[in-house]
Amino acid sequence: MTDDHELRVSKIRNGTVIDHVAAGQALNVLALLGIDGSGGEAVSIGMNVPSDRLARKDIVKVEGRELSQSEVDILSLIAPAASINIVRDYEVEEKSRVVRPDHVSGIISCPNHNCISNADEPIDPGFAVLEDGVRCDYCGTIVREDELAANLDVN
Ligand code: CTP
Ligand code: ZN
Repeated sequence: MTDDHELRVSKIRNGTVIDHVAAGQALNVLALLGIDGSGGEAVSIGMNVPSDRLARKDIVKVEGRELSQSEVDILSLIAPAASINIVRDYEVEEKSRVVRPDHVSGIISCPNHNCISNADEPIDPGFAVLEDGVRCDYCGTIVREDELAANLDVN
């Protein structure tokens, strides 16, 4: 496996490795997590890296941050095959696959300004998870996969 001709993204000490991300989705993963470098954390990205499980994959390594379950949920919407590796002191301590929920709430806000979830009502936005996006419980507006990052409620 390891030979001198292989380019490798270096190991991290503490943090999260999001592996087996569909090729082309790494920047969306960062956007979904609200990571733009301004937080000062070290972030490494590999794009279109050869993989045994996928033909090509992206990989994202975030130093000093362990993802919460709601962050993992949202990741599953754009990176359904991803594995989440929690690294502590250079060792992979926890490894899990993302699980695509049927429904998400408290993560995305509805882009429809007339939606009741955007009015001054005590209701939380909620969305049914579809194949390639999500659908608002209240007004039926569909937020497609590539629009998710722009409609996030977290971070
Ligand atoms: N990794 C890292 N820093 C560490 C430990 C692991 O960046 N200190 C990365 C590895 O490079 C790999 C991922 O975390 O991309 C998972 O590590 P590991 O479980 O050791 O690799 P594999 O067994 O190949 O993982 P999988 O079975 O999920 O493909
Ligand atoms: Zn709505």
